[in-house]
Amino acid sequence: MYSDPNMEASARLVAAAREENAKRNPPRMTAEEKEQLLKTYHPDYREEEFEFLQAGPNKGEKVPKELAALLQGRSRIDPKDIDLSQPDYDTDVLVIGGGGAGASAAIEADQAGAKVLVVTKLRMGDANTMMAEGGIQAADKPNDSPAQHFLDAYGGGHFAAQKDLLAKLVTDAPEAIQWLSSLGVEFDKAPDGTMITTHGGGTSRKRMHAAKDYSGAEIMRTLRDEVINRGITVVDFTAAIELILDDQGRCAGAVLMNMETRELKIARAKTVILATGGAGRLHYQGFPTSNHYGATADGLVLGYRAGAKLLYPDTLQYHPTGAAFPAQIFGALVTEKVRSVGAMLINAKGEAFMNPLETRDVSAAAIIRECSDRGNGVKTPAGYAVWLDTPMIELKHGEGTIEKRIPAMMRMFGKYGIDIRKEPILVYPTLHYQNGGLKITVDGQSTVENLFVAGEAVGGIHGRNRLMGNSLLDIIVFGRNAGQQAAAKAKDVTCGALSLEHVNKFHHMLEEAAVDTGKVSPRLLPTYNSLGKEF
Ligand code: FUM
Repeated sequence: MYSDPNMEASARLVAAAREENAKRNPPRMTAEEKEQLLKTYHPDYREEEFEFLQAGPNKGEKVPKELAALLQGRSRIDPKDIDLSQPDYDTDVLVIGGGGAGASAAIEADQAGAKVLVVTKLRMGDANTMMAEGGIQAADKPNDSPAQHFLDAYGGGHFAAQKDLLAKLVTDAPEAIQWLSSLGVEFDKAPDGTMITTHGGGTSRKRMHAAKDYSGAEIMRTLRDEVINRGITVVDFTAAIELILDDQGRCAGAVLMNMETRELKIARAKTVILATGGAGRLHYQGFPTSNHYGATADGLVLGYRAGAKLLYPDTLQYHPTGAAFPAQIFGALVTEKVRSVGAMLINAKGEAFMNPLETRDVSAAAIIRECSDRGNGVKTPAGYAVWLDTPMIELKHGEGTIEKRIPAMMRMFGKYGIDIRKEPILVYPTLHYQNGGLKITVDGQSTVENLFVAGEAVGGIHGRNRLMGNSLLDIIVFGRNAGQQAAAKAKDVTCGALSLEHVNKFHHMLEEAAVDTGKVSPRLLPTYNSLGKEF
């Protein structure tokens, strides 16, 4: 029972219409309808929320205002105060970031015989990987193929994906699942041992492999164990705050900062892999986020200042179903798997207003339209929301399905007295993923030599919208790839004299362009205190 009378009255309408709605399959929108919907309601199209960069490799291009302030912010260090002559760490491959991409990269670089150092500003596994729920895509069933997977993702991404990157993603996917299984990931299986696979938004085949609705946690658990078992050196609570180049302009390490003591250390490396993840904690346009506490676009800032180009930094993913109530879980991810196993999106009047498995950008825009111009949202303490009719799952598939397939969702809402088997839940889009990031070639290298990038910090793999389950896939495929390529490259590298001159040059460029955002970057952690003081 919802204690708010409006919510309760609306929930009753949802319950009354449930049987009829469950029989319906609202049609998919046409391409024209989708285009119009996105232009009118998707946050990526709110021109006033973006700004054109005035300095750096993407000068003249549009990015969210919050990101522009950091990309064009000033360094945390003054290069003249930094002694680069006696590095504290000397390694072949430096991995910056302790999520799924960083861990996969470290494992493969270690496997290739390289000396590997992982630094992470929080702890190994404090990452969006850990928060991923619904699953990982791979076309490994007889009715499916990497080509079919490519077509789904290419269309879903508005035909903007870098074709060579996407081709690698889908081609290496079946092997990625095998690799994870061999390391110990417990994927959901049928009694005969075959993998259970489901649909996600925009998929033409059931190719989502999952570990219930905590797939990311299961994958991260396994990767972290592997990193530890291999004895790979991990330095936690240590952030990279600037990349170091050598006298030939190649990436050759990083300036590190201990997050507790703020002590600085120098790491010299023959190759560097940026695997710093996403940006949800920048709360673009004031949206809540499903991201972990450290998702502040650090890699984009570090790479950009060192001269690496960004691709599609103006496109973000708003996951259609963030928790909109209660306040304690505002913005938390309600996995797409909830719709994939049968729940429908329902408005305040009890109407199933859209097909539940449209792509994410389309679904998010449709929910925003329902809650704004159409006036069909349910009033909540934080704004408006629509229903996700979870009891419909058990109506369609029988009692016990929710506990079996989406137990984490059941627990998350259960803590606040909402039994999702009996009551629908309130959802609204939440900032979930950065589609854009640093540009890479298919070997994982950025436009700066010896600087590799993997995971959510990469832009272009998915185009302008990503399908569910292709992110857990890309951290594995491109994380492993970056580790292999960086280790191979390191064999031929002798670092030249270390330099931070690029930082001086960047500051100079900002001064010439008369840009002063008043920000110091990378941000490292969000600031939620009332003083608004940066770390
Ligand atoms: O809805 C989800 O479970 C999210 C998956 C993803 O972003 O790939």
